[in-house]
Amino acid sequence: MCGIIGYSGDQNAVDILVDGLQSLEYRGYDSAGIAVFYEDHIQVVKAMGKLQNMKRIIEEKGSDFRSNCGIGHTRWATHGKPSDVNSHPHGTENLTLVHNGIIENYLELKEKLIEENHYRFQSETDTEVAAKLIDSFYLTHRDPFRAITQALPLLRGSYAFGIVFKDFPGTIFAVRKDSPLICALDDTGYYIASDIPAVLKRTNRYYTLMEGEIAVVTASGIEFFDSEHRPITKEIKTADWDFQAAEKGNFPHFMLKEIMEQPEVVEKTVSAHVKDGLPDLGVEGLSDEELKAFHRIIFVACGTAMHAGMVGKAIIESLARIPVNVEIASEFRYNNPVLYPDDLVVVISQSGETADTLAVLRLAKSRGCKTFAVVNVVGSSIAREADSVMYTMAGPEIAVASTKAYSSQVCAMCIFALKLALLHQPQLTEQVRLYTKELLTQIPYFVSAIVNESDKIRYIAESFKDARDLFFIGRGIDYALSMEGSLKLKEISYVHSEAYAAGELKHGTISLITEGTPVIAIATGDECYEKMISNMKEVKARGAKIIFITKYGAPGAEQISDRTIYLPHCSEIFMPLIAVPVMQLFAYHVSVLRGCDVDKPRNLAKSVTVE
Ligand code: AGP
Ligand code: GLU
Repeated sequence: MCGIIGYSGDQNAVDILVDGLQSLEYRGYDSAGIAVFYEDHIQVVKAMGKLQNMKRIIEEKGSDFRSNCGIGHTRWATHGKPSDVNSHPHGTENLTLVHNGIIENYLELKEKLIEENHYRFQSETDTEVAAKLIDSFYLTHRDPFRAITQALPLLRGSYAFGIVFKDFPGTIFAVRKDSPLICALDDTGYYIASDIPAVLKRTNRYYTLMEGEIAVVTASGIEFFDSEHRPITKEIKTADWDFQAAEKGNFPHFMLKEIMEQPEVVEKTVSAHVKDGLPDLGVEGLSDEELKAFHRIIFVACGTAMHAGMVGKAIIESLARIPVNVEIASEFRYNNPVLYPDDLVVVISQSGETADTLAVLRLAKSRGCKTFAVVNVVGSSIAREADSVMYTMAGPEIAVASTKAYSSQVCAMCIFALKLALLHQPQLTEQVRLYTKELLTQIPYFVSAIVNESDKIRYIAESFKDARDLFFIGRGIDYALSMEGSLKLKEISYVHSEAYAAGELKHGTISLITEGTPVIAIATGDECYEKMISNMKEVKARGAKIIFITKYGAPGAEQISDRTIYLPHCSEIFMPLIAVPVMQLFAYHVSVLRGCDVDKPRNLAKSVTVE
């Protein structure tokens, strides 16, 4: 949610900010804006809607509109509808700021600022309240650092701020709490940004900003201060993502590019976690003895990452025979969860910044539980705060709809399950070795074979693109997959869809099946295959049109379905890795055929850093 960028250096900040916002647009696209030091004032340019609208205004200003320092923002609205006036930056005649997060006590502060300081507010945002609050202190002593540090303790909620003061040209003040922010540098100057891809085109050298830390950025360097405002030094880190990985290349959409990258991502994530033919988590701070001592595993995550946890549960319980709970982070954190010291709390997150997931991690730690994170973004908040981290190797994922990150999370789940099986069921060691070999050597080829079926899936999508409602059904691990298939479809194509455990349909939902209702049925396992066929017959009898995703040679598949997509044979626990690209491609093609904005679906943002 919301992307922040800032630059101070000897290049034209206007171009750098616009470029950075382009890479950050996936974090929000309700509006875009910049504020730069220009002549003797701070010039703000902002516009509702996609970045293009703001770019047009900048182009009209001509090539003389240049600056060496400024801040920029792309918004995912939380407080106040998307509009020009609610767009960031916000400010007063002294200062201008951009914000990612939510100021929870903004109403209370706003009333006070109106009553006591007679401020007038232009926007409906919580952000403008923060700007005016800082200003109210600044007016008394004209010291920016002091004004910021006086205001921060009064703000409740989450924030990453980039702030510029009219009387301090060339300087950006940055601070964060519960929202991400990094600083970076190259030979031309210094940056602030919500994430690394925003600056990757120019540099891969960066600093992470920890909770409550403040950075003062100028063209000649960055000074850092801890949360007690004492000067500190920080180590420069190097990101190993290259900027092409965050570019679309010849693909029409990031989502398609990321779907197509999955064979490589699977191979990379698995091979990084195999040693001597056996699974190896490769994490620090979690010994085999400790891992073996946990009696229960609790996966907590949001959205697609939670669906990966559901797959993990199915595999771990079947192989290692230890109980696993899967929880939605936003529910779990407020349900006063029952946690025991011998529970292992595993959070799963692509971005490593999801607010609810991060909150659960902190809650689990405060209750004395050991925490383990499965994360894609190196150096993210969740990666930094968890006791142990297993990295997925998906590289930068830009499309809002998660695809390759999900596959890499499922790979992590497979490795984790195999490792637990080794520890809890040593008699399975040879079986685990065989599974590991299969995962490493065969699965990437099968994934590759499936993503190459894109044209066929597009052809099927053509006949279903006008559906109003659509159902996904499956049992066991296939139900977990149905959840992911359904989310993907509704997220990017706006077709209403629901995922149901196939046996549960007749307890209510089957009343929604009428003549022509599309049902995507998934049956990748043998045990419940016949039950699935019965459930498909039940919906068929009510007029459903069935797309059947199953293994080659599955008996009776063609007789019962209207369209069948066959998957290569592999061990059942790895089937999700092969089946999911089918559903991702189906959602992708339906979205394209319906003329939707595939990479930036309405109302969504990639990184959900607010609750
Ligand atoms: C998936 O397509 C979604 N965009 C969303 O559900 C996402 O998986 C969720 O917000 C969790 O994000 P995270 O993995 O970065 O924590
Ligand atoms: N609360 C701010 C707004 O609505 C920032 C939102 C965000 O970070 O997503 O403008």
